[in-house]
Amino acid sequence: MREKIIIDTDPGIDDAFAIFYALRSAQFDVLGLTAVYGNASIEQTTHNALALVELAGADCPVARGAGDPLEIERRAYPTMVHGEDGMGGFAPTTVSKAAVERHAVDFIIDTVRANPSSVTLVPIGPLTNIALALRKAPDLASLVKRVVLMGGAAQLNGNVTPAAEANIYDDPHAAEMVFAADWEVVMLGLDATHDVHLTRDDVAALARDGGVQGQFLQQASEQYFDFHSDVVGLDFCHFHDPSALIYCAKPELFAVQASSVRVVTDGFASGKTIAKPATRFTGQPGWEDRARVSVCLSADGPAVLAHYQATMKL
Ligand code: BDR
Ligand code: CA
Repeated sequence: MREKIIIDTDPGIDDAFAIFYALRSAQFDVLGLTAVYGNASIEQTTHNALALVELAGADCPVARGAGDPLEIERRAYPTMVHGEDGMGGFAPTTVSKAAVERHAVDFIIDTVRANPSSVTLVPIGPLTNIALALRKAPDLASLVKRVVLMGGAAQLNGNVTPAAEANIYDDPHAAEMVFAADWEVVMLGLDATHDVHLTRDDVAALARDGGVQGQFLQQASEQYFDFHSDVVGLDFCHFHDPSALIYCAKPELFAVQASSVRVVTDGFASGKTIAKPATRFTGQPGWEDRARVSVCLSADGPAVLAHYQATMKL
């Protein structure tokens, strides 16, 4: 049976790779995309989500969500990474469909309630929509099948500050709510995504074999690759958001440790995720009664990428 998923997303170059994969894969029934600010404004990420669904030739609702974090002032959009339009300068100017009327938070709540115990939430942006949904409908935690999120770092530095990964940094209070709630959460962060290296050659193969979507991804990721080579000093990109989707389909490609996770919500380490392995530091104040989180510590990068390429090949 196909896994029912809602992708909460801030497209974003790697979001585009993830969304195309999910819409192409026979393993998923994508019930909707819910947009959140992050890599660009909420107007732009909603537009991009609609454009990506259209490019994929899919019939999948898109709901517009939060435009600001819960408590902190919104961080600057990472235009040097994803471009002014979040799509490396290649966002289609027009889309033929509009977002659904309902706010993303209500879309999530209604969809989960209509499909109790069978919806996986896959957040690949800041966790604001998910936290707002939990706040509005506390029953959500017991009705969702699981949450598989891209964000955080357990054993590595962050990627926007030495402490923080971008999605958690953007809304640390929302992330703390998600990690504290009593539901099944998989944290797939930099520890795993830094094992998965996407090269320009991989994207050239996608452009050759992946139809319109592969060609779009090649154009849109040009600036993303430039950022990685010129600023980070890498001749490849870390394959962040698609890895969360691929975890859902191929969990055997990832190593996971049962843990609890807390988030630093202010100061110079704001957005840092601290993961305590379930079997260590027992009895520590602040960690007792914390929800269990499955933290991905590594990935079989070549196998993850091979699976992605095989899925995208027409
Ligand atoms: C995450 O941050 C965003 O810029 C990417 O789309 C991804 O979700 C990686 O840290
Ligand atoms: Ca993202």
